[in-house]
Amino acid sequence: MTTIDQQVPAHLRGNGRPVAEEVTVTDLTVTGTIPSELDGRYVRNGANPLTGISSHPFFGDGMVHGVRLRDGRAEWYRNRYVRTPFFADPTVDILDPKVMMDMTASKANTHVIGHAGRILALEEGHFPYALDGDLDTVGPLDFAGTLAGSFTAHPKICPVTGELLAFGYSAFEPYLRYLRVSPDGELVQTEAITVGGPTMMHDFNITRNHVVFMDLPAVFDLEMAIRGEMPIHWSDTYPARLGVMPRHGTDADVRWYDIDPCYVFHPMNAYEDGDTIVLDVARLSHVWRDSMMDFPSPELWRWTIDTGTGVVREEQIDDRPAEFPRVPDARVGLPHRYGYMMAVPDDPSYDDPSQQSGALLKYDRNTGARSEIDLGRGCLPGEPVFAAADGASAEDDGYLMTFVYDAATDASRFVVFDAATMDDVPVASIDLPRIPFGFHGSWIPSSVVG
Ligand SMILES: [Fe+2]
Repeated sequence: MTTIDQQVPAHLRGNGRPVAEEVTVTDLTVTGTIPSELDGRYVRNGANPLTGISSHPFFGDGMVHGVRLRDGRAEWYRNRYVRTPFFADPTVDILDPKVMMDMTASKANTHVIGHAGRILALEEGHFPYALDGDLDTVGPLDFAGTLAGSFTAHPKICPVTGELLAFGYSAFEPYLRYLRVSPDGELVQTEAITVGGPTMMHDFNITRNHVVFMDLPAVFDLEMAIRGEMPIHWSDTYPARLGVMPRHGTDADVRWYDIDPCYVFHPMNAYEDGDTIVLDVARLSHVWRDSMMDFPSPELWRWTIDTGTGVVREEQIDDRPAEFPRVPDARVGLPHRYGYMMAVPDDPSYDDPSQQSGALLKYDRNTGARSEIDLGRGCLPGEPVFAAADGASAEDDGYLMTFVYDAATDASRFVVFDAATMDDVPVASIDLPRIPFGFHGSWIPSSVVG
């Protein structure tokens, strides 16, 4: 049993509690066989408050954990704080409006990706932070002075063109900007997009020819910021809409489609199919209505936008709570058959992880089947990240990677599963120090970052 300290906020208990040290471990114990074709870094970001305390799960300081694989070996594990202004001075208040306006004052805690030879630690209210191959901070990235505002934590890399398609939202006009970054890492288009108000837009979608914005009723409230609260709340009156725009289009080209009120932090993927655009998403009935910790369980839904009639069909696919949906990087914006999610444990509190059971889910969107990797009691994974096998012929020919926390040992493992078979026994498992629960990560092949 984990000892519960009710003085500590719920998100900092159990495996929510931060780690104090930055470490580098090169002598790693491996069970199984690391596939020799995996040459690169698995990296994952999360909120790890420097002071040991944060008032909300989203406010901790960004700490990136990474494992370097090469030639069938695990060369290192390391964890590094992103060197932001909060790292330099932990007394800086993230909810101070002056700090919120400073685009370098990022917590850099939400996602980490590889693009154009750079590793980027991302958080949605500010500039990206560039890291080097050892996860040390290079600095904030403003794309040679061309980025005028925030940059989402969920940009999408087009597997066909290599572009990085992104956006930034703001509490002030323009509330939304579309951002298009070239394959070699230059910001080549910034487009102000007209929306009805300042909403929290956590993620978005790309298809082969379009982007799809999700303008949903989580609305900014500056008065809440002035009171020192998380400045976003649910609105019963703000309309929920999807905005479809050609990738090289302008504000005038955006076509908006009404949907039922809901919130989506994370889509699984989107693609074009004739005159329709299909989106698979992890949908919440609402968010932040009753409190700042009001997060109903997400479930997999499908939205099908009929661009001819203007109607969106909304279907619930599964009633099993699950989050962190992903498809293979090679399928982003293209038709996918398979998607992967992290099952949300029955009791999502952090108080006693030894009583929770973790699982990774695989959805076959052609057959409707759902399969799972059962991690067993006390073993809790994070977001499943897919890495393709060499010469893969099938979409699911590859590996699922994540960190797993084991309550029995109060330590973590990096695990590599066979995504085709979804065998409960990992192909490889690497013993690691404890890694707190976090947010998003990536497999960054050494062809992207050497
Ligand atoms: Fe996210």
